[in-house]
Amino acid sequence: MANPSLLILAGDGIGPEVMTEVKKIITWFGTKRGVHFDVTEDLVGGCAYDKHGTPLHDDTMARAMQVDAVLLGAVGGPAYDNLDFSVKPERGLLRLRKEMDLFSNLRPAQCFDALADFSSLKKDIISGLDIMIVRELTSGVYFGEPRGIFPDNEGGRVGVNTQRYTTNEIRRVARSAFELAKRRGNKVCSMEKANVMESGILWREEVQWVHDHEYPEVELSHMYADNGAMQLVRWPKQFDVIVTDNLFGDILSDCAAMLTGSLGMLPSASLGAVQANGRPKALYEPVHGSAPDIAGQGKANPIACILSFAMALRYSFDMGDDAARVEKAVETVLANGARTADLMDKDGGTPISTTQMGDAILAALDASL
Ligand code: NAD
Ligand code: IPM
Ligand code: MN
Repeated sequence: MANPSLLILAGDGIGPEVMTEVKKIITWFGTKRGVHFDVTEDLVGGCAYDKHGTPLHDDTMARAMQVDAVLLGAVGGPAYDNLDFSVKPERGLLRLRKEMDLFSNLRPAQCFDALADFSSLKKDIISGLDIMIVRELTSGVYFGEPRGIFPDNEGGRVGVNTQRYTTNEIRRVARSAFELAKRRGNKVCSMEKANVMESGILWREEVQWVHDHEYPEVELSHMYADNGAMQLVRWPKQFDVIVTDNLFGDILSDCAAMLTGSLGMLPSASLGAVQANGRPKALYEPVHGSAPDIAGQGKANPIACILSFAMALRYSFDMGDDAARVEKAVETVLANGARTADLMDKDGGTPISTTQMGDAILAALDASL
């Protein structure tokens, strides 16, 4: 059988720095576990714009459609802030999500014991935390039409975006949330703003429909997203799976990330429909961005990107045991006190570099054999 194929799109800023550490782990799987991946690399974001005048070349898009999984670092940066909207780095990522139809974005927030003291919240509020945010990723206000900046009728301008969801779009992401919940704590909380938005009313009704007709055994609750933000900070352990739309999911997952200690810890999987070969279309990326404030300094925490690769092992390659092995290695190095700068508390200490963190995780992987 052919080796599983990976397309690596490291992107901009700290993207290539954290992806270097993932590449070491991919190599480790080949040499130490006999699991070989066919890896190709290409450009996305600002670096693709620099070379091709577009943040995602058509050939790269075509390649992404063919491989078993895409691994992405991060895109964007101040050098590209003033580009025309149509060629901004972020548009490359959005095109990948849309054309691969990656409608279900899994953003787990788990608190490692070693970091329980580090969160900005009290230890008992976050220790043992394990929640999964399922963010709809291909629709809503990110893609709805009409959109644009137009002249208004007072001599000024009007900026327009449209929140739009169909029955099918809501039902399919709801199904993925219920499926996940069945394998976890059996609870789904759906978040929208049905009190002010028609799309929120439809969201609530359709999630309820999927529950009643297909997953009556899973506990379902509904919450307004603003209350959800508050509850995430007040008592996050009340949640198991949260399902929400594209924009609320973007914001709530950054919030959940900080519960775990740092944005540099949070991985994600973006999944589409299961194909004939049994694998979903899939892209794996850390939740964080290109972090221009620390790019090029060797300070970035590679754990979010490494844990995203672990999610690829689990969700694309049915290698749950190896995913757990990578997660355990991360847990071990954190328990041993390894900390990148984002994980240092106010009392100081000496942070290790991106490379040192990657090497420590590799050493823990070696020790796991
Ligand atoms: P960001 O996530 O890049 O950074 C926010 C803060 O978190 C910064 O202080 C940064 O130093 C820190 N941080 C992020 N990742 C870290 C890591 N791995 N280790 C240590 N610290 C880390 O968000 P931003 O500053 O709002 O955006 C910067 C650029 O990234 C923008 O162009 C934005 O559009 C883009 N962005 C891209 C993605 C993506 O590619 N998926 C996601 C978010 C933002
Ligand atoms: C994310 C990012 C992206 C989003 C941007 C870079 C397009 O913030 O993946 O969380 O808004 O979805
Ligand atoms: Mn975001």
